[in-house]
Amino acid sequence: MKHFGFKNKNKIAAIGLGTWKSKPGEVEVAVKTALKEGYRHIDCAAIYRNEKEIGNAFSHAFDNGLNRNRLWVTSKLWNNAHKKEDVIPALKQTLADLQLDYLDLYLMHWPVAFKPEFMNASKPEEYLSLEEVPLVETWEAMVEAKKQGLVKHIGVSNFSIKKLTELIDVASEKPEVNQIELHPYLQQDDMVEFCKEQDILLTAYSPLGSGDRSEGMKKENEPSLLENSVILEIAKRNNCSAGQVLIAWHLHRGTSVIPKSTNARRIKENLASANLELTHGDMKRIKTLDKGYRYVDGKFFEIPGNEYTNIYDE
Ligand code: A2P
Repeated sequence: MKHFGFKNKNKIAAIGLGTWKSKPGEVEVAVKTALKEGYRHIDCAAIYRNEKEIGNAFSHAFDNGLNRNRLWVTSKLWNNAHKKEDVIPALKQTLADLQLDYLDLYLMHWPVAFKPEFMNASKPEEYLSLEEVPLVETWEAMVEAKKQGLVKHIGVSNFSIKKLTELIDVASEKPEVNQIELHPYLQQDDMVEFCKEQDILLTAYSPLGSGDRSEGMKKENEPSLLENSVILEIAKRNNCSAGQVLIAWHLHRGTSVIPKSTNARRIKENLASANLELTHGDMKRIKTLDKGYRYVDGKFFEIPGNEYTNIYDE
């Protein structure tokens, strides 16, 4: 499996298993299947509310001989634990749920803060402003978690170039990863370029268009990545699936990717995307598909009266 390296020589497998939207009743089997098939990178988050079941799968794999240091586990700090005193307790809860002593990577899930008592904030008064809890305050608590050995690497998610730049300017250390939505309809070449210059690895979420999002998160007439005619034509020529073309595209661009599946056949199929060689011509054709389209537009944080409008700074 292709890997991407960190400064300290640790490596993250280019294809990981996504677990957003994986139901608690299904995710344990899915992670067990993935580990059996050879996945060594599992992407988690406290807000997915399925970390306990994923922990059972990890524990089962370790009992059956998997070495902890062969597995890469990412998780994410939820928005209601951004105050400096709340970061390490939230991380420790994730570690307990995942039945791990350390994470390989911990990400600030969103540049958005909620009051601690709200898992979901739906009214302006349930939010904390970035003046009350600056992103750097949360970040420095994550730096401390790294110093304590609770996590090996730290990063962010859903950060724009502007927010990355502002954080880097004041932080004691740089984020090592930014996990963002990336796919042929949202190629974000400027972000890819910026992160390359800054030595920040990118991880792509929603690589298949996240068709299993709740209806409330979907817009009318969303474009389909899996049914795109260029993607289908490349898939047909390579005798593979559209999903595999979409996943392989990231590896050719140098970003890791975390397709979600709870289906054994597709879990296996997605990992096998690593063997697909796209030609220069294929990459050129896929390049033309960019339309700056977000499936996860962040509008759910835009409540009249709070400051979280235009969180991607576009
Ligand atoms: P399932 O879990 O039943 O396999 P994303 O990774 O962009 O969030 O997309 C996840 C969605 O894509 C889920 O509905 C998942 O369904 C589906 N999916 C996962 N792998 C494939 C694939 N290879 N081909 C088509 N759909 C897939």
